[in-house]
Amino acid sequence: MPAGPTTLVDGSELVAFTGTNYLGLAGDSRVVDAARDALAAFGTSASASPVTTGRLAPHVALERDTAAFLGVEACLSLPAGFLANLAAVEVLDDRVDHWLCDANAHPSIAVALRQSRKPVEHFRHRDADDARRLARARDGRAGLITDGVFAVDGAIAPVADLLDAVGDDGILVVDEAHAIGTIGPEGRGVFEHAGIDPVRTCRTGVYSKALGAHGGYVAGDRALCDAVRDHSHAYRASTALAPALAVAARTALAIVVDEPDRVERLRTNVMRVHAACSRVGIGTGGSPVPIFAIDAPRAEAVDACGRAHGVFLAPFVYPAADRGELVRWTVRADHRPEHIAWLAAALRDALGRV
Ligand SMILES: Cc1ncc(COP(=O)(O)O)c(C=O)c1O
Repeated sequence: MPAGPTTLVDGSELVAFTGTNYLGLAGDSRVVDAARDALAAFGTSASASPVTTGRLAPHVALERDTAAFLGVEACLSLPAGFLANLAAVEVLDDRVDHWLCDANAHPSIAVALRQSRKPVEHFRHRDADDARRLARARDGRAGLITDGVFAVDGAIAPVADLLDAVGDDGILVVDEAHAIGTIGPEGRGVFEHAGIDPVRTCRTGVYSKALGAHGGYVAGDRALCDAVRDHSHAYRASTALAPALAVAARTALAIVVDEPDRVERLRTNVMRVHAACSRVGIGTGGSPVPIFAIDAPRAEAVDACGRAHGVFLAPFVYPAADRGELVRWTVRADHRPEHIAWLAAALRDALGRV
C-alpha cells in the first residue's frame, strides 16, 4: 500500500512506527487521485508568488476550508510550515513589545524569533506560571509563542493557562503542526482539545503531517492574514504552494470532517499503545497525542529488537533539551491491534523492563 503502515527496510517488510502520516491520508486514494487530477490541470508548480499570480483557486479554497475547520476568520497557505512561523513572527513583531517562547519550541520558531527586533525570553517548558512571571516583569504587550503539541515528546501546551498568562493585550501564537488532525474530539487541534475559543491567537501549522499533503498555514483574524499578505517577506517572496498539493490538503481536510471515525481510530490506537506498553511494564503517560517518547538508557537495542518483532522504530535517539536519551515513536490510525502488540513486545525486549 503506498504510504501505508508498512515499509521495506533492508529487504524486510516492517510495520513502521515512525513518521507523521498519523491518519494515513498521504496514501488515501481520494487524496492521491485529487492531486493527480490537479497536476494535470495546473502542472507541477504555482510558478509565482501568491501576491502576483501564484495564488490560484485551489489555494483560495484550501484557505477558506482551513479557516472554517479551525474556527477562525482567515488563513493563508505557504509552501512550508517553517515559513509559516517565519511569516507569523515577521508581522506580529510590530504588534508586540517583547516575546516569550517555550524553552523547547520547534527550531522553526527559534529561527523565526532571530529576526525579531524585540526582546526575546524563554519560559520553562509548558510552564504557564513561569511565562506569567516573565510577562509581568515587563511593560507592554507580550507575544507568547509555543508548539501546541511538541514534536519530540508529544507534550501538549497548556493553551488556556498560556492565554491567561499573556494578558488581554498580548497575543498567543501556537504552532499546531502536530496538533491538526490529531487532537481535539474532531481533530481541530489544541484549542478544541482544551475546550476554549481561539481568541487573541495566531495559529500556524502544516498540511504535511496528519493531512498527508505538504505546505503550511497562518490562521487567525482577518487583519493578521492581511498583514501577512501585505508585509511578510516569507509569504510574499516565496513561490506559492504547488496547486496539486493544495488540492491534496483540501481533499484530506474534507475527509477528516466527513469521516470523524478516522480521528477516533487514531485516538483508539494511541490508547492501545498506552495499554500495551503498560502491560509490559513501560509507562507512557496517557496523553491522547500519537507521539510517544520514553527515557531509554538502552535505546540502541530498540532498532534490533524492533526488527526481530517485525516493527520499524527510528534507529536513533533524540538528544532532548531537558531529558537524556529518548526513544520516540508514533502511531497511526491504520495500525492494527497486532501491530501494536508487536511494538510492545519489541520495546519490552529492548528495554528489559519485565
Ligand atoms: C512543530 C513543527 N513546526 C514546523 C515544522 C516545519 O514544517 P515544514 O516541514 O512544513 O516546513 C515542523 C516539521 O516539519 C514541526 O514539527
